[in-house]
Amino acid sequence: MKKKIISAVLSAAMVAAMLVGCGSSTPAAPEGGAEAPADATAAEGGEAPAAETPAGEGGRVGVSMPTKDLQRWNQDGANMEKQLQEAGYEVDLQYASDDVPTQVSQIENMISSGAKVLVIAAIEGDSLGTVLDQAKQAGVSVIAYDRLIMNSDAVNYYATFDNYMVGTKQGEYIRDQLDLENAKGPFNIEIFTGDPGDNNAKFFYQGAYDVIEPYIKEGKLVVKSGQVEFDKVATQGWKTENAQSRMDAIIAANYADGTKLDAVLCSNDSTALGVTNSLEANYTGDWPIITGQDCDKPNVKNMIAGKQSMSIFKDTRELAAQTVKMVDAIMKGGEAPINNEKDYNNGTGVIPSYLCEPVFADAKNYKTLLIDSGYYTEDDLK
Ligand code: BGC
Repeated sequence: MKKKIISAVLSAAMVAAMLVGCGSSTPAAPEGGAEAPADATAAEGGEAPAAETPAGEGGRVGVSMPTKDLQRWNQDGANMEKQLQEAGYEVDLQYASDDVPTQVSQIENMISSGAKVLVIAAIEGDSLGTVLDQAKQAGVSVIAYDRLIMNSDAVNYYATFDNYMVGTKQGEYIRDQLDLENAKGPFNIEIFTGDPGDNNAKFFYQGAYDVIEPYIKEGKLVVKSGQVEFDKVATQGWKTENAQSRMDAIIAANYADGTKLDAVLCSNDSTALGVTNSLEANYTGDWPIITGQDCDKPNVKNMIAGKQSMSIFKDTRELAAQTVKMVDAIMKGGEAPINNEKDYNNGTGVIPSYLCEPVFADAKNYKTLLIDSGYYTEDDLK
């Protein structure tokens, strides 16, 4: 990745996204309090098109999600299904168990059973070219959801959070907490990012790395494992157990003698969980700063318990609402709302995108962000 160029371009995107946002940053609480995010509706956020069309008559929409294993995708799927149904569409929602052939065959079925629009969160950005050629031939529109689908000219739109900004916020948090501008250091840091097949992982990594790189260069931040480049710090499948075993090895080789680890940059909550598990089992020094993303329930509990320092809240209700607007515009033959037309080139050209704004979360603001907004109940976090 040509970092400098990407960061210049993406900084502009950050500013744009900050100005535009993605609907309201704190959605209104659902009536009567929410059981779970799946109960949240677009109407609650005031975002979805009015549900004037009788049930299912707007046409069929295929929604392809990567896995049920991670909490966020269940929320994404449920929110989208509910909001699309309320807008009058028939929804075919499928989860692919993080298995690419399963996702491909589910999408084939969606096309053959008459979907007009596909909303896809790809397991691997590069593996859907052939099936999406079929979609294009059948006149089916494609929205890449959260993760960009690479090297396919069948992708019409991309709806996501500002992925570079996610990384920036994580990097800035570490910079500010360690007071890297003023403190003498040196401080020890380790880095964990996501799956190499997920285009987002590179943006998260780059956003954070651009913030911490100067301090690594001047020696104020030290990566004792020596594992810094994207390929070295990627976590296959974003899996907690993979992050955990890599952290086990890093501790054994570098921190078993009581050497202090000051910070662990984790791109998301599933990797943060693996790092936390490993530290609990193997590390005896002062607890490091740990970043995350998604505000998954176990991680919010860890934040409350002081085991994870921060997370990034990406309100799946907002992303779903934005995606429903895109679907609605496509179905009605109009232009979908976008706010970025330069940063997400999937190899065939720039994909018109809508970037929602990710929000910083920690033990201090989680009540306002997550409970008052109806995203979780108090009981969810006990
Ligand atoms: C998403 C993150 C998520 C990760 C693992 C990424 O593409 O943007 O929110 O934590 O995948 O599922």
